[in-house]
Amino acid sequence: EKGGYASFMLKEIAEQPKAVTDTLLGRIDGSGSLTLDEVRIPANVLREVDKVVIVACGTAFHAGLIAKYAIEHWTRIPCEVELASEFRYRDPILDQQTLVIAVSQSGETMDTLMALRHAREQGARVLAICNTNGSTIPRESDAVLYTHAGPEVAVASTKAFLTQLVACYLVALYLGQVRGTKWADEIRAVVRDLSSISGAVERVLGTMEPVRELARSLAGKDTVLFLGRHVGYPVALEGALKLKELAYMHAEGFAAGELKHGPIALIEDDVPVVVVVPSPRGRSVLRDKIVSNIQEIRARGARTIVVAEEGDEAVVPYADHLIRIPATPTLLQPLVATVPLQVFACELATARGNEVDQPRNLAKSVTVE
Ligand code: F6R
Repeated sequence: EKGGYASFMLKEIAEQPKAVTDTLLGRIDGSGSLTLDEVRIPANVLREVDKVVIVACGTAFHAGLIAKYAIEHWTRIPCEVELASEFRYRDPILDQQTLVIAVSQSGETMDTLMALRHAREQGARVLAICNTNGSTIPRESDAVLYTHAGPEVAVASTKAFLTQLVACYLVALYLGQVRGTKWADEIRAVVRDLSSISGAVERVLGTMEPVRELARSLAGKDTVLFLGRHVGYPVALEGALKLKELAYMHAEGFAAGELKHGPIALIEDDVPVVVVVPSPRGRSVLRDKIVSNIQEIRARGARTIVVAEEGDEAVVPYADHLIRIPATPTLLQPLVATVPLQVFACELATARGNEVDQPRNLAKSVTVE
């Protein structure tokens, strides 16, 4: 059943290149245009959308946080992302021109379901991004984009997350395409880049031995911190969540720009800090800022674990451990940057003697509020 892997989680991590390809399958035509016919919300309705609201929980919420960067950039439509459990209790502003995107692997998460019911009562259109055919969330939505990751058995979400990201990018690019923005050329280029992302994920998976070794060496630590910026910030949150739920360690993700506003006080001798470095192309200002953050925390004793693009040499002098990822367009980087953090958490948890497929106190789908 586990196909020779020690756990479902390892199997599902390894399945990610295929999962990502399957999410794209049949959704891009020969000319590089998106053909999301299954999103039955008519183009004229999508052209009228003046706000996007993403609701989700846990890992799916992190996918939503990343989607916001993509949606706002490619469509210029304001986008909010909210934890489904908070959403309906604050009387959110919704109407017929609001597109609500509910992201859920299981399609049964009660908080997400209640959020989308609330949104529909207010007249908003709801698009589900879901992995489970025929589950409740897609059945109650106006439209659904299935992620086609295949069944995810391990409680900790891995391949579902990557495919949620791909589905979110597809929606963002599709909205951009339907509405016609100034980014038409960029959209076409990104669609091409998406088509080759599976190979990039495969390459990352082929270089994970040093990450596993590092993870094992940190099994006795109490705390691991994660820093990121721009789309790397939700990646940091996701890396920390994986470590909490699997290794039962204190793990926190921070926006690197917030360091000085508090979290830097946590830095002490030999505390491991994983830093996700933005691509030096595109957002080079952000890359430079993060390089100074790495210097700052290292000067205060942190053990820096730096996740950076191949060819980015500026980080090398300050990295106690360097994890290389292939170069991608800025917005797509989470697809490759998250993978080493999944492997890291899985290996660290195993080294601590934990059962990775069934972490304590957790259920695969949370059908109560
Ligand atoms: C973390 C994890 C959870 C789920 C969350 C939402 O690894 O798996 O945080 O992401 O419970 O579940 P779905 O996507 O089924 O709505």
